[in-house]
Amino acid sequence: MLHDPNHLYIFDTTLRDGEQVPGCQLTTPEKIEIAKDLEKLGVDVIEAGFPVSSPGDFQSVVELSKAVNDVIICALTRANKNDIDVAAEALKFAKRPRIHTGIGSSDLHIQYKFNSTREEILERAVSAVKHAKSYVEDVEFYAEDAGRADLEYLAKMVEAVIAAGATVVNIPDTNGYCLPDQYGAKIKFLKENVKNIDQAIISAHCHNDLGLATANSIAAVQNGARQVECTINGIGERAGNTSLEEVAMILKVHNQVFGGLTSNINSQMFTYISRKVSEMMNMPVQPNKAIVGRNAFAHSSGIHQDGFLKHRETYEIIRPEDVGLLEADIILTARSGRHALKHHLERLGYQLEKEELALTYQRFLVLADAKKDICDEDLVTLVTSRQG
Ligand code: KIV
Ligand code: ZN
Repeated sequence: MLHDPNHLYIFDTTLRDGEQVPGCQLTTPEKIEIAKDLEKLGVDVIEAGFPVSSPGDFQSVVELSKAVNDVIICALTRANKNDIDVAAEALKFAKRPRIHTGIGSSDLHIQYKFNSTREEILERAVSAVKHAKSYVEDVEFYAEDAGRADLEYLAKMVEAVIAAGATVVNIPDTNGYCLPDQYGAKIKFLKENVKNIDQAIISAHCHNDLGLATANSIAAVQNGARQVECTINGIGERAGNTSLEEVAMILKVHNQVFGGLTSNINSQMFTYISRKVSEMMNMPVQPNKAIVGRNAFAHSSGIHQDGFLKHRETYEIIRPEDVGLLEADIILTARSGRHALKHHLERLGYQLEKEELALTYQRFLVLADAKKDICDEDLVTLVTSRQG
């Protein structure tokens, strides 16, 4: 597969790694709706499911393959013949099918999960890729628990699966174990020591157990990865996966650091798609979640509000419009200053003289100490009760 070295491929696994979270299960029509939105969002790959896992998941991959036209549809398998046969069958209507096969690469997985040896696992990896390749041109291989795998062995595995035909090599930090510099160094090592690495795209798949999924994915990109596997709102197994919206906005805000690397993501859809996934999957988004949390663009302290109202860039690195929000929020609390109160009163049509504003502000503080949320009605009452 020819790939553009200046493009960061966004591989969305909301409907696979995300959907495997308890309580997040979706029906096939719901998955189709989200897949169509992901296509509009501009992702390059949609991981549609794990077909052998259940008849429902199989059917979802079939229907998504029919419903989506431009994006690669990917199906997950373990490294065995039956999984791959079933995935190939589920992908038969996909215009751009990809099989994602793989096996554990750390000694912990090899010994305890497979009761096997490094040599045997290497053989299984290679034959799985060859078998997948007999069905589709585009085969992605995942070296599960690569975050804790021996580096030399991982390099050997990566080289062997590329030689067997893998077009993408996924280096998952399955347990969210690595630090960003460790994960980045792993990618750099593969880039520099695997002789056929230029024949494949390196993919980062990071979990968030230590809150480092996004940082690790970014470190991977800085060291040569050109695909990031992520989910909307960062949902996924345990503490979740890398959040798609965070990666896309980091790329945008720090574009010069990435030497002009681009993605096709339309960030203006973030608020919409985040809310939709949250509602459909019954997974609330934490209010302070970067980019899409309720408070991500809400300024509440007086010092910040004053600076923001004088010049928004003092406290704003992303314009809310860029993520599909109408505007930033100036929240009124007991920590707000006069400037914020004046701003809201003017918005409601009240122009107060300096002295009157000062008096209203004192009464506002008493109210705000007693009441958590100050709404427009409260402000109107504050002004009109005094005027009356
Ligand atoms: O976290 C992981 O290792 C995975 C693989 C199945 C890609 O989700
Ligand atoms: Zn995962």
